[in-house]
Amino acid sequence: MGLLQDVTGPLSQHMSQLSTASQVGVVAVSIVVVSVVLNVLNQILFKKSNEPPVVFHWFPLIGSTITYGMDPPRFFKENRAKHGDIFTFILLGKKTTVYVGPAGNEFILNGKIKDVCAEDIYTNLTTPVFGKDVVYDCPNAKLMEQKKFMKFALTTTAFQSYVPIIANEVADYFKKCPDFKGQSGIVNIPKNMAQITIFTASHSLQGSEIRRKFDETLADLYHDLDMGFTPVNFMLHWAPLPWNSRRDHAQRTVAKIYMDTIKERRAAGETDSQDIMWHLMNSTYKNGVKVPDHEIAHMMIALLMAGQHSSSSTSSWIMLRLASRPDIVEALYQEQVDALGADLPPLSYEDLAKLPLNQAIIKETLRLHAPIHSILRAVKSPMPVPGTKYVIPTSHTLLSAGGVSATDPTYFPEPDLWEPTRWSKDSPLTPRINTNTEDEEKIDYGYGLVSKGAYSPYLPFGAGRHRCIGEQFANVQLQTITAMVVREFKIRNPDGSNKVIGTDYASLFSRPLEPANIYWERRQR
Ligand code: HEM
Ligand SMILES: *[C@@H]1O[C@H](CO)[C@@H](O)[C@H](O)[C@H]1NC(C)=O
Ligand SMILES: *[C@@H]1O[C@H](CO)[C@@H](O)[C@H](O)[C@H]1NC(C)=O
Repeated sequence: MGLLQDVTGPLSQHMSQLSTASQVGVVAVSIVVVSVVLNVLNQILFKKSNEPPVVFHWFPLIGSTITYGMDPPRFFKENRAKHGDIFTFILLGKKTTVYVGPAGNEFILNGKIKDVCAEDIYTNLTTPVFGKDVVYDCPNAKLMEQKKFMKFALTTTAFQSYVPIIANEVADYFKKCPDFKGQSGIVNIPKNMAQITIFTASHSLQGSEIRRKFDETLADLYHDLDMGFTPVNFMLHWAPLPWNSRRDHAQRTVAKIYMDTIKERRAAGETDSQDIMWHLMNSTYKNGVKVPDHEIAHMMIALLMAGQHSSSSTSSWIMLRLASRPDIVEALYQEQVDALGADLPPLSYEDLAKLPLNQAIIKETLRLHAPIHSILRAVKSPMPVPGTKYVIPTSHTLLSAGGVSATDPTYFPEPDLWEPTRWSKDSPLTPRINTNTEDEEKIDYGYGLVSKGAYSPYLPFGAGRHRCIGEQFANVQLQTITAMVVREFKIRNPDGSNKVIGTDYASLFSRPLEPANIYWERRQR
């Protein structure tokens, strides 16, 4: 070093720059090495006996983010085998405690409001997309009231009117969509299922004015809103990035479309519609305040977004699973012929109850492909874990992964097998769980009765105060779509095999890896 400093001229200047660079490099490497060593020593030497075991990781901050992110279900399974049902891993610097199995589902999803909090985690992501004063941008008690308004519009009478709307949308889609021209073909199905989902949901839940706008402006705007749901936005929601400015523009524009529609409806004074917007326009909070128009608009966005990803991913999986089992496609067709008549009359809400295999398709697909693999909660006060010596500190985040128990052989014989007939009573693969929820104790968090316990190993719609209100709607929508597809097409894998495509975990909701091609052939009727 000293030598170098004595030499003069451009070469030496270059050399000394190099040496500065290499000094910086050495310092950087040393910092990394020291922090890795400290991090590893810390894990080995300072195990806290009252905290769950920590998944080993080399780097602080990064922790297990990458192994978790690549395949969350595999990460959960491997670490459960190593550590048991409860363990902690580092997710982007945050100590994240996973508790799987029925007791874990109960501990997290039924956590008390003083202990666990969803809005602290989700608001960064959801508020810029949905808009202010709804869902996770308001106190929990207000969300409970908003869920009540939304859920109470999802009545049997409403569903009776929705099934023909959904069935017609599906039939119409297959008539018009260029991907389904002719007698047979191969199609990358997720894109089509996403469109069918948004057309059917918007038409039934939000009315025909809004549905018509999806042929024009709304499809692109919702796409821009969607881009706000990228996982990096947990941290970068505020950043002046191109997708964030498109998100903000889309949020304002879509909210205005809903608010204008509300005004038009008020001016026209119609009241005979069943849809949610009408119901919200006529709803009043317990404190006597009528639901303001901007909150109605933001709830309409939230409803469509909440349902879109989960239903669209599920309907894609249904098509892909059916393509892997053409025998089930034929059994479904036969079920409709037997139950409804060979002429297959227009589908009604009552018909769906006569099609148990068609219903089981949804159940079994959600068992293996629940679109929400991780449910997160902030810890608000130290939480002792019943039956253990652990106390979860407020510095941790809790993570519930219902998919782990839904694929546990203790409850589901041959768990990795997609076998919809397992949900019928006489199957050798019948789940070893209580499927009769009628006799369970119920509780009302403010939006109607739900099961009090969350000990079930099968909870694709969550549990507790944040439980899904869209379950019945999703079932009606998915069963109708499945029944209509089966009426129209025979489907199979393009190579005729029984294989299934892998899962894409890159966005918040898991979905099939694309291209996810299926072969379709129009039935001769
Ligand atoms: C297959 C379809 C669906 C699945 C698998 C699903 C799943 C879930 C899950 C797991 C939760 C709990 C989230 C948490 O605890 O953090 C949830 C909540 C919710 N879902 Fe769904 N959902 C589906 C469809 C829908 C539809 C169609 C709608 C609207 C019509 C909807 C609206 C909601 C709402 C409003 C919540 C409440 C959020 C909260 O209280 O924090 N979902 N859903
Ligand atoms: C939400 O964003 C803020 C920065 O605006 C960040 O400090 C915080 O950690 C984020 N919350 C979560 C749960 O990611
Ligand atoms: C609005 O509420 C009133 C009183 O609760 C009720 O009579 C009316 O039918 C409701 N209208 C709609 C569209 O729900």
